[in-house]
Amino acid sequence: MKTLTITRPDDWHIHVRNGALLKTVLPHTAKQFARAIIMPNLKPPVTTVAQALNYRDEILQAVPVGMDFTPLMTLYLTGTTSEADIKLAAESDAVVAYKLYPAGATTNSDAGVANIKAIYPALSALEKYNLPLLIHGEVTDEHSDIFDRERLFIETHLNDIVKNFPALRIVFEHVTTSEAVQFVSASANTIAATITPQHLLFNRNALLAGGIRPHYYCLPILKREQHRLALVAAATSGNPKFFLGTDSAPHVSSLKETACGCAGCYSAHAAIELYAEAFERADALDKLEGFASFYGADFYRLPRNTTTVTLEKQSWVVPSAYGDADHSITPLKAGETLSWKLR
Ligand code: NCD
Ligand code: ZN
Repeated sequence: MKTLTITRPDDWHIHVRNGALLKTVLPHTAKQFARAIIMPNLKPPVTTVAQALNYRDEILQAVPVGMDFTPLMTLYLTGTTSEADIKLAAESDAVVAYKLYPAGATTNSDAGVANIKAIYPALSALEKYNLPLLIHGEVTDEHSDIFDRERLFIETHLNDIVKNFPALRIVFEHVTTSEAVQFVSASANTIAATITPQHLLFNRNALLAGGIRPHYYCLPILKREQHRLALVAAATSGNPKFFLGTDSAPHVSSLKETACGCAGCYSAHAAIELYAEAFERADALDKLEGFASFYGADFYRLPRNTTTVTLEKQSWVVPSAYGDADHSITPLKAGETLSWKLR
């Protein structure tokens, strides 16, 4: 049987929620990944070190016995985050970054930042204390076309942020456009990006052609094929600025299969297998290890993992749902066949 052994990967962007959903989804991530950057967009958002420590405890309790998994916590940047808050975060071993959501950009972003210029003092403090800033890069003005919102964010905000804070390490999260790939590639080494499996595997037809498929609806939204191709080229290039971040974002199926469904694809059940599929299609399986296991750790200045995982070339059918009747989640590629399986 064909196998692929790589250094154990990390997931540099994930939503694991809390309560019952957390218990359903966390084992999928802990099985595959040694570490993951935990997004803070709970209700209410995780804004203080104390909240992050509580949330980390809840996550650690959901790790199945015998599995080794480290959650890396982030704090939610708001219009009132102070330099003192940032100093405390920098001093905490548990917190590794701040997350910037433009207010209204995505799920649970109401507490996000309404006026980006107004938080420049906080960005200056992040730069000073050497804490990375993770950005959901989409403009939020209601008149901007949803397919243009990432590109417009670069022009409207990101160029200025990068110019004003040259030493600030920034992860442009879940990039989805050729413009974002170009921006990151052309920037200094302080700027990196994560790429999701769905944006490598699908274009917007998966969401909209032949019927509307809510389980392919995430933000930033799937784009045209030309953008998918640019993302595949970036992910498989060996450029260390681009690394794995699933943005796995579970919602119970009833909240997605409805007149106004939530944004977020659930991919943690088969994350590394989905990436392997995308890399194999690009004839670049030899580039998977750098993308999945090395470049993110290097960017965050954390040690690379020392154990390995093995994938087998073996078909398996993704279950139609995970969780129980009250918390049923429809995974990406539900009911479809994948060609790689984690041993
Ligand atoms: C995420 C979620 O559901 O929390 N949704 C998504 O579509 N990606 C939020 C986010 O990362 O935008
Ligand atoms: Zn996300």
